[in-house]
Amino acid sequence: MARVDAFNKGREREDDEFYTRLEDIENELRHYKEYFKNKTVFCNCDDPYESNFFKYFAMNFQHLGLKKLIATCYVTSPVMYTQLSLFDDMEFSVEAPPNPNKKPYKVEITEVEDLTGNGAIDLEDIKLLLKNKKNVCSVLKGDGDFRSDECKDLLKEADIVVTNPPFSLWTPFVALLLEYQKDFLVIGRETNTTIKAVFEWFQSNKIWYGYTHAKEFYRPDGTTKKFGNVAWFTNLDVKKRHDPLIMYKSYSPDAYPRYFNYDGIDVDDISSIPQDYYGYMGVPSSYLFQYNPDQFELIGIGNRLPKPIIHKTVGDEIHFIDTRTNEVVYKFPYTVPERKRGNSLRINENGVPGDIPFGRIIIRRKEQPT
Ligand SMILES: C[S@@+](CC[C@H](N)C(=O)[O-])C[C@H]1O[C@@H](n2cnc3c(N)ncnc32)[C@H](O)[C@@H]1O
Repeated sequence: MARVDAFNKGREREDDEFYTRLEDIENELRHYKEYFKNKTVFCNCDDPYESNFFKYFAMNFQHLGLKKLIATCYVTSPVMYTQLSLFDDMEFSVEAPPNPNKKPYKVEITEVEDLTGNGAIDLEDIKLLLKNKKNVCSVLKGDGDFRSDECKDLLKEADIVVTNPPFSLWTPFVALLLEYQKDFLVIGRETNTTIKAVFEWFQSNKIWYGYTHAKEFYRPDGTTKKFGNVAWFTNLDVKKRHDPLIMYKSYSPDAYPRYFNYDGIDVDDISSIPQDYYGYMGVPSSYLFQYNPDQFELIGIGNRLPKPIIHKTVGDEIHFIDTRTNEVVYKFPYTVPERKRGNSLRINENGVPGDIPFGRIIIRRKEQPT
């Protein structure tokens, strides 16, 4: 039974087929218009015939002043050649017609005209463009993997990548964008920030959160799936990064418990960050949505940070050892749950290692009192 559950969990993790709603794209993208003028946008996990990213950029091509729009799709995409939502009634116009081998394709657009002559650019114009301009759509040589040489060549040509990449490949996806020094605006789970490399990107100002959340996604079977923790990540400057967090509470030892194993205080709510405390503070990771790098420093992820007091199994006991003096400062009988708590932050409860606060990151005021 346990093995079946684990197997199903594994399958669940690999389920990457969550298609972004146009309204979620519009909601976020309206903050960045100035970045797109004369730029080449690449949507590299996007079947142009179903992706609302492609639809958004094609329809806003003139409005944004784009130079070029490229979209590539992946060979195993379950919606490829099914035209899920975008052009349901349209005949397929890829150079090589749909074939049993289901070759993935790319679309490259350098101009979008009012082909219907109705005075505006709309979906009908995009349909006509794809249908009539033969050189716009072509079959890829490879499988459309964003890591393939062919897609990397397109990436080199691009200025900004905008997409919702597969959740299971999110970190290597963003790592590639950083390696190629591209601007990007991509959707991902907030839990990505607990990955060591991703947190380090936040620390070194290579990535930060955008403005909004994407709350609901289409599924290939026509249903939708809701998420509470899917956000936008970007390296395009956002205004809120420069807005200081307004703090109105004052520090008092009674209101803010200290940690047993780390030299810092626990703050369980962003709105409770005290205005007059300059040491280390553990705060919920949602602080990253309000992170202003001029105001605070990101020290690390609470559970992962090296700590002056460590946790060690010695015979049938767990010892808390102060690494500065090598003294055993507290002992517990060995229990599996206690062992699993490992090096987590622990609240100091009257001199005893107590509760583990939920998902903290450690921050510190940048400006220190003189
Ligand atoms: C989360 S879905 C989002 C699709 C689309 N970008 C959207 O937002 O509607 C991720 C897509 O990436 C595709 N994909 C999976 N692995 C890929 C890879 N290695 N390279 C490129 N695309 C991939 C999946 O088939 C899926 O269509």
